[in-house]
Amino acid sequence: MNSFTYANPTVIQFGKGQIASIADLITPDHTVLLVYGGGSIKHNGIYEQVTEALSKHAWTEFSGVEPNPSVETLDQAVALARKKKATFILAVGGGSVIDGCKYIAAAACYDGDGWDIPSGRHIVTEALPIGAVLTIPATGSESNGGSVISRAATHEKCVFRSPIVFPKFAVLDPDVMKSLPERQLTNGLADAFVHVCEQYITYPCGGMVQDGYSEALLRTLSTLASQFADRDSETWQANLMWAANQALNGLIGVGMPRDFATHMIGHELTAMFGIDHARTLAVVQPALLRAQMENKKDKLEQMGRNVFNLPEQVAEGTELAERTVQAIEAMYHSLDIPTRLRDHGVTDPAFIDTILVQLERHGFAKLGEREAITLDVSRRILTDAM
Ligand code: NZQ
Ligand code: ZN
Repeated sequence: MNSFTYANPTVIQFGKGQIASIADLITPDHTVLLVYGGGSIKHNGIYEQVTEALSKHAWTEFSGVEPNPSVETLDQAVALARKKKATFILAVGGGSVIDGCKYIAAAACYDGDGWDIPSGRHIVTEALPIGAVLTIPATGSESNGGSVISRAATHEKCVFRSPIVFPKFAVLDPDVMKSLPERQLTNGLADAFVHVCEQYITYPCGGMVQDGYSEALLRTLSTLASQFADRDSETWQANLMWAANQALNGLIGVGMPRDFATHMIGHELTAMFGIDHARTLAVVQPALLRAQMENKKDKLEQMGRNVFNLPEQVAEGTELAERTVQAIEAMYHSLDIPTRLRDHGVTDPAFIDTILVQLERHGFAKLGEREAITLDVSRRILTDAM
């Protein structure tokens, strides 16, 4: 296990009715910019709860942050934050709105071109404080320092990370999930599952706590997938919300090798084809695991035993690691999530060259915990994922 520093400063307010607590979590001297997406919060009672909680604050709102938030839209919010002299950014939404607010909070304190932040040309040194009311469990953005921002003009999707943009608090009220379309619910489950995989399916290095907790999260998520018929129950919803948060709040990855190649290749697919984030992961991950079978075999076998309860040997002789990949695919299929690009209408491999150029441009010519995923390997993964 490597040395590490661990701090997660986000206060979690979990449970029914917790949206009201933002009245006290944001001190009354703040001028709040309330930021949300395409309007789902106006149809499920969340907007009313939030504005009621803000009744003693000065606040203004910005709506229209789209899934895979674009810098073009977010820069309008930055201008509004400056005009209204906002001192606190309140994100009410999923990963897209929360990531967008991290950008708004940092760009509002930066005089240069905002795109310098996601593109890595400016390291964030200052940001307005952020709070989050989570409306879809998936990304873990509500209590991490990551943000994924797109630029529509150039079809790019870039990640920036900073301890400065961790939300001060995150409200996790599972009741908000009641209005989620099935597609978003399955996306959230799959995204959280891959977040754990990216920190777990590397190579064994003796992190008993990290491995044990990762396996608990993976078992939870695979159980929730198998109990998808119970998705309206409070227990099911609460477990997904908590598991998705824990999957990417930084804890399970400390001192351990990390992969995240599935994510980096997936982001390029979203930038090019607009495929939902989680669905790009389900397409890339099986092909990537097979391409890296030798490097990841030990952890895949461990996952097969400890997560999916697979027998060591089966009559037809398929190896345990391959059967683990098959179990992951079967889980996605059970949620109606396709695992091939052709299922998303992508049938011409000509796009692969462009993706490889973008990967190289974004600094991802070598990916994976051993940097073994070169551009040639990425090409093979994308070809196999067709
Ligand atoms: O915009 P509205 O109208 O609110 O509708 C949204 C949106 O269309 C809808 N929705 C959200 N909550 C709802 C709801 N509909 C009904 N009822 C509710 N309670 O769901 C749609 C998708 O929302 P979005 O925020 O895009 O989903 P998600 O949370 O999956 O976020 C995806 C984004 O997060 C990034 C992804 O790349 C993508 O841009 N990620 C961020 C990460 C991070 N910051 O750590 C890590 C992830 O790996 C991921 O890359
Ligand atoms: Zn993700």
